[in-house]
Amino acid sequence: MAEIRLPPEDSDLSQQPRATAPPTSDLFSDDDRSIAADSWSIKSEYGSTLDDEQRHADAAEALYSGNFRAASDYSSDKDEPDAETVTSMLGLQSYWDAVYDNELANFHDHGNAGEVWFGIDVMEVVASWTKSLCIDISQGHKPNHVDDKSGNTELDDKYLSSWRVLDIGTGNGLLLQELAKQGFSDLTGTDYSDGAINLAQSLADRDGFSNIKFLVDNVLETKLEGQFQLVMDKGTLDAIGLHPEAPVKRVLYWDSVLRLVAPAGILVITSCNSTKDEIVQEVESFNLTKIHTSQEHDTAKDEETCRDRPFRYLSHVRSYPTFMFGGTEGSRVATVAFLRN
Ligand SMILES: C[S@@+](CC[C@H](N)C(=O)[O-])C[C@H]1O[C@@H](n2cnc3c(N)ncnc32)[C@H](O)[C@@H]1O
Repeated sequence: MAEIRLPPEDSDLSQQPRATAPPTSDLFSDDDRSIAADSWSIKSEYGSTLDDEQRHADAAEALYSGNFRAASDYSSDKDEPDAETVTSMLGLQSYWDAVYDNELANFHDHGNAGEVWFGIDVMEVVASWTKSLCIDISQGHKPNHVDDKSGNTELDDKYLSSWRVLDIGTGNGLLLQELAKQGFSDLTGTDYSDGAINLAQSLADRDGFSNIKFLVDNVLETKLEGQFQLVMDKGTLDAIGLHPEAPVKRVLYWDSVLRLVAPAGILVITSCNSTKDEIVQEVESFNLTKIHTSQEHDTAKDEETCRDRPFRYLSHVRSYPTFMFGGTEGSRVATVAFLRN
C-alpha cells in the first residue's frame, strides 16, 4: 500500500527510455530532496490565501475528530500510525514537475506521449466503461455492470455531449483524448504541474483534440469555477496519498471533489493503491464527517437516513486485464464510480 505499485506503460514502446516511477535518483539531487521536503505543505500556483489556511484547519479538525478514515486505514484496526503508510517523492509537486519537464523534452525531441499510468488497456477500459455508465444514467437506467457495450452511436453522442467532464491530475491528458474518442465533447483537464498541462495541450493539438481545455490547478485548493457532471481521477488520489501530510490532504481532496461534482453527477476514481472496498469505505467515512457536521446544526437527523450523505456508490469495473510485475501477476487496479447526491 506504500507506493503506486503498477509500472506505467509507455504509450509508444518503441520510443527512447524515459523517467519512470518509482522516482529515480537521476531526477533529484539531495538538494532537490531537501528543498522538496521543506516545501511539502501546499506549493500553490496561486499562493496561500486565508481561505486555503481555513480549509486546512477545517480538514485537520475533521481528521482529528476521528470521523474520517482514509482507505489505507481499513486494512486492520490500528491505533498506531501504519508502518506501511510510507510516503514517497510521488506525493510531492517537485517530483511531478521534474517528471513532466523530462517528458516535455522527450515530446519535443522524439514525439513521445509520456507515461500512461496503469497501462493503455486500463485507460481504454476506464473510458469505455465510463461511457456506458453515463449513457445508463442519462437514460435513467441503473448501471448494468457491463464493462463495455456498443449501442446507437448517434444517440450515445447526443447523451454524452451534455456531460461536462473534468479530469483532475490529468498528466499528459491522454484519458481525455480517449473520452473524446468515446463521444464526450466538453472536456477539461487540470494538473498542478505546469509541465503536465503544457505536455497535455501539445499532445491534444498534435492529435487533433484542440477542443479539450487544459488548466493549471491544484485540486486541493481548486480555483475552478462551476461544477462538472463527470469528474475523473486516474492515479491522482494515489499520488496525494503519498504526500507526507496525506491524511489532511485526503480530507482536502474530498472537500474539493464534493464541490466540483455537480448534484446527480458522477465521480470515477481509478486507483492502484486502494482496493474498490477501501475506496468505498473512505467515501462512506467522508459522508459520515459531512453528516456529523450537518448534525451539529440539526440534532434530530438520523445518520442512516440522512439525505446529506454526499456520495453514493454506483458501480465498479469488474474485469481488468492482469499484469506481470516483479515476477508476480495481478490486477490491483480499481475503478469505482460514485453518484453525487
Ligand atoms: C499517477 S499520475 C496520473 C496522471 C494521469 N491522471 C494519468 O492517468 O496518466 C498523478 C498526477 O496527479 C497530479 N497531481 C498530484 N497531486 C495533484 C494536486 N494536488 N492537484 C492537481 N494535480 C495533482 C500529478 O502532477 C500527476 O500528473
